[in-house]
Amino acid sequence: MTILVTGGAGFIGSNFVLDWLEATNETVINLDKLTYAGNLQNLASLAGDARHVFVHGDFGDAALVNHLLATHQPRAVVNFAAESHVDRSIHGPADFINTNIVGTFNLLESVRAYWGALESGAKAAFRFLHVSTDEVYGSLAKTEAAFTEEHKYEPNSPYSASKAASDHLVRAYHHTYGLPVLTTNCSNNYGPFHFPEKLIPLMIVNAQAGKPLPVYGDGQQIRDWLYVKDHCRAIRRVLEAGTLGEVYNVGGWNEKPNLDIVHTVCALLDELKPRADGKPYKDQITYVTDRPGHDRRYAIDARKIEQQLGWKPAETFETGIRKTVQWYLDNPAWVANVQSGGYKDWVNKQYGS
Ligand code: NAD
Ligand code: TYD
Repeated sequence: MTILVTGGAGFIGSNFVLDWLEATNETVINLDKLTYAGNLQNLASLAGDARHVFVHGDFGDAALVNHLLATHQPRAVVNFAAESHVDRSIHGPADFINTNIVGTFNLLESVRAYWGALESGAKAAFRFLHVSTDEVYGSLAKTEAAFTEEHKYEPNSPYSASKAASDHLVRAYHHTYGLPVLTTNCSNNYGPFHFPEKLIPLMIVNAQAGKPLPVYGDGQQIRDWLYVKDHCRAIRRVLEAGTLGEVYNVGGWNEKPNLDIVHTVCALLDELKPRADGKPYKDQITYVTDRPGHDRRYAIDARKIEQQLGWKPAETFETGIRKTVQWYLDNPAWVANVQSGGYKDWVNKQYGS
């Protein structure tokens, strides 16, 4: 049996591929365009493993996707491919529209044609799992209840609006064509292979480089944080047992203001790799101009996936963040390659510019 994963060289996608091949023996076809966020070094430990087939390409390329579906006959497609960084979506929304909306639409069209032609057993077993975000629900006031699956969509950034649009398309393909879809809306992930443009890895690498730790606005914006491996387990579980057409919110029950996160990272670095001058890393915290339209609070009510599918996070924030900081300290070569763009050299050599 085989699954097709899109965006499997990115942060969550690569963690998912590694987790999948740890947990199962089922081949993964990994289709990734290798944008700035895709890094094959994340998958270096799979070198020579025939269960991982990497394909360099665009998930919106119908000819390529049709060919992959016909050749490999996957029993499921898991869609991670996206532009994922809110700040980039504010500076340049066009890529988010093209990738997250048009790309997902093209993928759905290819999958619909493939699924429609399957024989009845394979057709009934097939799944399309769409990986989405809690940001589609918008921003919560401090005292409001956490997002349930029924919460109305109120996306506030070009990123979250584009993800919301893709969620709606996935929903419509189920409602209209009966495509067997599942959607997960997850909170902020953290862990190994996280690109250092996002809050936690940026703080870890800037702290060690002696650079400022930029906190937007007052630093009191709240996010719910989930260790990436817990997200990967949740996706496996939804794929295995989720009810068709349903949405599952995935979260860590770990609501924290950004400033607390930054202080926690600083304190762990003080313990694990103290500054040469003996001063605390928190001295590097710098308050910078707030993100335009910055959502104040996200919080996930993850009771549905817990009660219906028996999934619960295994890591607490304390255990997960310690592992994460330690991973970055143990992998300076990965960080250096990402920062220098060195990871692109191999891609250029292999695939041309
Ligand atoms: P990421 O930016 O690290 O990785 C995205 C991957 O998609 C990269 O490998 C990139 O090369 C690939 N990609 C981009 N455009 C492509 C295209 N046209 N064709 C094929 N591949 C393409 O993102 P991530 O943080 O790993 O997020 C993965 C998914 O999970 C996204 O859909 C995101 O919206 C969602 N999500 C992320 C978080 C989070 O905290 N990071 C939380 C919830 C949901
Ligand atoms: P980010 O990691 O970009 O994820 P998202 O915007 O998808 O939640 O940011 C997490 C939070 O941290 C968000 O409230 C913005 C804030 N932030 C900073 O304060 N400074 C930074 O340098 C970055 C990248 C984010």
